[in-house]
Amino acid sequence: MLNAYISGVGAYVPPRVVTNQALADEYGIDTTDEWIIQRTGIRERRFADAGVYTSDVAVPACEAAIENAGLRKQDIDLIIFATLSPDFHFPGSGVYLQKKLGLTEGENARFVPCLDIRNQCSGFVYGLGTAASMVRSGQHKHVLLVGAEIHSHAIDLTTRGRTVSTLFGDGAGAVVVSATDEDRGVRGWDLGADGRFANNLCLKIWDMSQKPYFRVNERDEGEIPVDMLWPYMEGKVVFRHAVQRMVETLMQSCMKHDLTKDDIDLFFFHQANLRINEYIANMIGLPPEKVPSNIERYGNTTAATIPLLLEEAVRTGKLERGMKIALVAFGSGFTWGSAIVDW
Ligand code: ACO
Repeated sequence: MLNAYISGVGAYVPPRVVTNQALADEYGIDTTDEWIIQRTGIRERRFADAGVYTSDVAVPACEAAIENAGLRKQDIDLIIFATLSPDFHFPGSGVYLQKKLGLTEGENARFVPCLDIRNQCSGFVYGLGTAASMVRSGQHKHVLLVGAEIHSHAIDLTTRGRTVSTLFGDGAGAVVVSATDEDRGVRGWDLGADGRFANNLCLKIWDMSQKPYFRVNERDEGEIPVDMLWPYMEGKVVFRHAVQRMVETLMQSCMKHDLTKDDIDLFFFHQANLRINEYIANMIGLPPEKVPSNIERYGNTTAATIPLLLEEAVRTGKLERGMKIALVAFGSGFTWGSAIVDW
């Protein structure tokens, strides 16, 4: 039987480190290191400079994942790009990534399909299910899946936006999902969504019901009301649903594969908030060493959190061949998902 496994991992974060203290000192946000650490566990995050696109941070992560898989770029036959901060409204970021990877140039140009996934924090797990399905069907052999975000250009870095803007950071994580006859890889996944909560965590900058969707002023410039410019989040609602749905989807995946939590070596939880993950770990009795974390250093990088964490675990030797792992995510939509992978 054809299986789909993760053959390579790669990651990239912009070099500029922004500490909690810098949010107060440099951006003038009325916040403290203590408040942020206590509520979220975040100590610092990375911010990309002006002029950097989300596809730009995706490139080094993808190149590293392809190299780690022992492949050439030309071996990739499908690109899946998960992000909530795409380069533009359209087209999707996948085609920009394809061009920036050099796949459209020269004799060996590869005009592979590019698919964008818009499932926010669950984007990587939705993407993994999609990539594994494509591989298992025999349609594709090596799928490049990237989660990448530039949040820092689109959050309100003032006191008004502090509840949201202190949480997020920029970065990219990528994997290659490849075909194999070996008995390993992505065993299965569980995905879900509840559109009743679509407005509890959203960014409505493109409101297509408005005609025209941006008012144009006398200087020929589009005008956007400030409350549509920035992400909106009801933090307590998100927290409550994240805990519930992440536990449920993990249990679903375990049941589908006849596993208990003790059969799983490592749990890669979406890095939204350290307190959410600690709460879940306590609830179901997971020892901290089985729940890797890097939100302290990167903040919430949305679609990038799980592949960033995977890359780090591989690089540091924590994640080794033969381990059984669970990936679990929850995000805007609300959407959620989990996957079981034999590494
Ligand atoms: N620094 C200082 N004070 C702050 C900050 C800040 N960064 N942010 C908010 N406050 C203030 C508020 O203004 C409020 O002040 P007030 O009482 O004078 O009005 C007070 O702190 C309490 O605000 P709440 O919003 O009620 O704070 P809460 O305890 O709910 O914590 C938080 C906010 C951390 C966002 C929490 O709700 C949470 O973690 N929710 C989960 C959200 C999440 O993880 N989102 C990630 C994106 S979605 C995803 O990835 C799954």
